[in-house]
Amino acid sequence: MRPKFVAGNWKMYTSASSAKALATTVAMSLKGDKRVMVAVCPPFPWLSVVAEALEGTSVLLGGQNCHFEKEGAYTGEVSPIMLREIGCQYVIIGHSERRHGLGETDEFLNKKAKAALEAGLKVIFCVGELLSEREANRTEKVLETQLTHGLAGLTAAQMQSVVLAYEPVWAIGTGKVATPEQAQAAHAFIRGKLGEQFDAGTAAHVQIQYGGSVKPDNAAGLMSLPDVDGALVGGASLKADQFLAIVNAAIG
Ligand code: PGA
Repeated sequence: MRPKFVAGNWKMYTSASSAKALATTVAMSLKGDKRVMVAVCPPFPWLSVVAEALEGTSVLLGGQNCHFEKEGAYTGEVSPIMLREIGCQYVIIGHSERRHGLGETDEFLNKKAKAALEAGLKVIFCVGELLSEREANRTEKVLETQLTHGLAGLTAAQMQSVVLAYEPVWAIGTGKVATPEQAQAAHAFIRGKLGEQFDAGTAAHVQIQYGGSVKPDNAAGLMSLPDVDGALVGGASLKADQFLAIVNAAIG
């Protein structure tokens, strides 16, 4: 049985004080509830203040990105080891805003995923198709390529520390959520591919979150689907009441 996992991706939003307040409200409201895994991923500068706010609570901390080197002359970058040191358990790799907005390739993301796992982080690895790709009936092909190249060389043991996030790019920040049929079909396809790329046990174990316009009113419908194991939430994760309603929907 895969536990549900709801993660909030705060993107480039919040201030130091609003980040602290949001993290505190989420953690206090959950009161250590173990029925669902919950993580928040603040912007880098607020990781330390949020880590402090989450100390001793059940809420996990994630970075939104990392570099693939441990250290070096990489101006503006943050290494996985730094994320570990500041208290992160997770890091998001391959978000569409980095794939498509910043041109990060499958090969580049693969290096980051490996480096993050080696540093002891767990990875939320994002995949998903553009609207043009869905309309051209290329969704499965795109997902297959992203999985094959993005997770290349990872061992089944490492996959125990990987969460997949299926985020159709056309649903991110648009208010256009995938239908339950579209989400279930994509998730089942991803799980099938994980079975081929790794093994059946790995495929059955890996959590696959859905992301893209998840809101309190559609969360329960999505997360009750057999292959949807939680949500990666953007906009609605910035409002404590909305995020908590989504977490509650995961509990069922
Ligand atoms: P959204 O973002 O919930 O605002 O659509 C999801 C994401 O980008 O992870």
